Amino acid sequence: DTGKLAYKVGVTLDRFIKSKQQDFPFATGELSQILRDIALASKIVSREISRAGLSDVTGSFGQTNIQGEEQQKLDVVANVRFTRALTKGGEVCAVVSEEEDLVIDLQNSKGKYVVAIDPLDGSSNIDVNVSIGTIFSIYRRKTPTGSPIQEQDVLQKGSEQVAAGYVLYGSSTMLVYSTGNGANGFTYERSLGEFFLSHPQMQMPADGGIYTINEGLTPYINPNILSYLEGCKRKGASARYIGSLVADFHRNLLKGGIYLYPATSQAPNGKIRLMYEANALAFIAEQVGGAASDGTKRILDIVPENLHQRTPIYIGSKNMVSGLEKALSV
Ligand code: AHG
Ligand code: MN
Ligand code: MN
Ligand code: MN
Repeated sequence: DTGKLAYKVGVTLDRFIKSKQQDFPFATGELSQILRDIALASKIVSREISRAGLSDVTGSFGQTNIQGEEQQKLDVVANVRFTRALTKGGEVCAVVSEEEDLVIDLQNSKGKYVVAIDPLDGSSNIDVNVSIGTIFSIYRRKTPTGSPIQEQDVLQKGSEQVAAGYVLYGSSTMLVYSTGNGANGFTYERSLGEFFLSHPQMQMPADGGIYTINEGLTPYINPNILSYLEGCKRKGASARYIGSLVADFHRNLLKGGIYLYPATSQAPNGKIRLMYEANALAFIAEQVGGAASDGTKRILDIVPENLHQRTPIYIGSKNMVSGLEKALSV
């Protein structure tokens, strides 16, 4: 039955972006161009990743980032690739990246947009051939184009995102993005060099049978979360944890589930970074009918105070996130 083997090479990402351009809040084509630039960089990164083990891109780069994490070579490669694509594209004036201590002013005097990016998510999985990702948020700058970048251009709430998305380098490479009218997923056809629409108008189940947490943290977290997890187990839920936020989120989006990275006694704000991890995925979650909370409020309502701040995060199926919030409020 060829119907069962249908090969989705119909609508390319480029064509899709173009057809949606009129939906954008400011339909000048600049945001479309940024999405294309990100897609291009992701193809290059996908190629580098697929050679891990053959070329010299695995292992440590020999430096630490501002989080005190040891940078992997691919963290640095991906950071360079995405930043370069956005610099050359000309529509972005500033980039916030996990791998850069400060805001990078791209010196694009016409750039109206600011991008926050986790160039390579799931660093610990690179060298062991497990799914990794890229996460991005796009904002409009607040101050006039061409003037020096101000704090208010960069420290915007997640609810101000004009677009956001992620790339998952998994069994295939996928790009999922939203401009605020639902979210769509595209799968990369490597030999054609194109992303094709494979997951139109994605929807996350309101409930799910998966809970996703680093169980090693449980001695250090709020016992109410443990009670919540006990409840999940009693309902027959399965534990799934990859350790790459993008991959864990994407699986739960498709199947239904909740991802938790709570505060711990050692890390009172948890681990996940607001500006370039939590916000983009929270935006996508809400667009597909899911939810994202820091335990008491929407992730998208958090007012950022610094580039690298962390937040506890509970993200996924709507009813599971509200159940978790309820458990925390007891
Ligand atoms: P990154 O590789 O971009 O630094 O992100 C790592 C994050 C996230 O991808 C993942 O969900 C989480 O760290 C895993 O943390 P633990 O190792 O504490 O489980
Ligand atoms: Mn890191
Ligand atoms: Mn990350
Ligand atoms: Mn990263």
